[in-house]
Amino acid sequence: MIIAANFKTNHTRASTKAYLDDLSAFIESDGAGENRVMIFPPYTALDSFDLPSSVTIGVQNGYPAIKGSFTGEIGLEQLDEFSISTILIGHSERRHILGESQELIAQKFDFFKEKGFEIVYCIGEPKEVREEGIESVMRYNLSQLEGIDTNYEKLIIAYEPVWAIGTGLTATNEQIDETLSRLKEVVDVPLLYGGSVKPANTKEILSIKNCDGVLVGTASWDVESFKEMLSIAKGC
Ligand code: 13P
Repeated sequence: MIIAANFKTNHTRASTKAYLDDLSAFIESDGAGENRVMIFPPYTALDSFDLPSSVTIGVQNGYPAIKGSFTGEIGLEQLDEFSISTILIGHSERRHILGESQELIAQKFDFFKEKGFEIVYCIGEPKEVREEGIESVMRYNLSQLEGIDTNYEKLIIAYEPVWAIGTGLTATNEQIDETLSRLKEVVDVPLLYGGSVKPANTKEILSIKNCDGVLVGTASWDVESFKEMLSIAKGC
């Protein structure tokens, strides 16, 4: 299983370091079993960390250029300095709040694919689409894969329904099961679920057939809560 923490715009450089120290000690005492852990801290917290081999540090975004004049953006040269080779692309907050188009997202995908990055690519429908039923949900989610090479061997897809992110509303197990099964028919890559995952629902979500892990926002920001989820995953 992959248990991933998206810090979004939370944690400082100092608190990320303290979090990772605590997490590393937990993992070294076999708290997470065979599970793979991914942490996506804010850019300002990037550093060369000494971590257990099961922990990967990734970034929440990246600009598709080695370097150049892209004010406010981070390119490959800045990521290479910290040996970053894992990236989140297509998160709904970047699509909806920052206005990223599918075209820009596909450009980022191509660039980081060409550089050999592991890509956690996010898709997910808004509430009104979910209310239209599974066929609309699939049409919407598959449209977010337009221009994306779904045969890329380092691709992981995170299905995160927009209406379940940060809202406390989790998709039902049936909704997750059906959506992941339908996705798996089209894309044979590891699939994560994200959207209000917390210790109380981790076990049932991880037991869903085509679910290969979870991408956690809010409940990952507190290291105790994240460790609790890792303990649950260890027993799954
Ligand atoms: P929440 O866990 O806060 O709903 O966020 C999910 C998410 O967006 C992870 O990328």
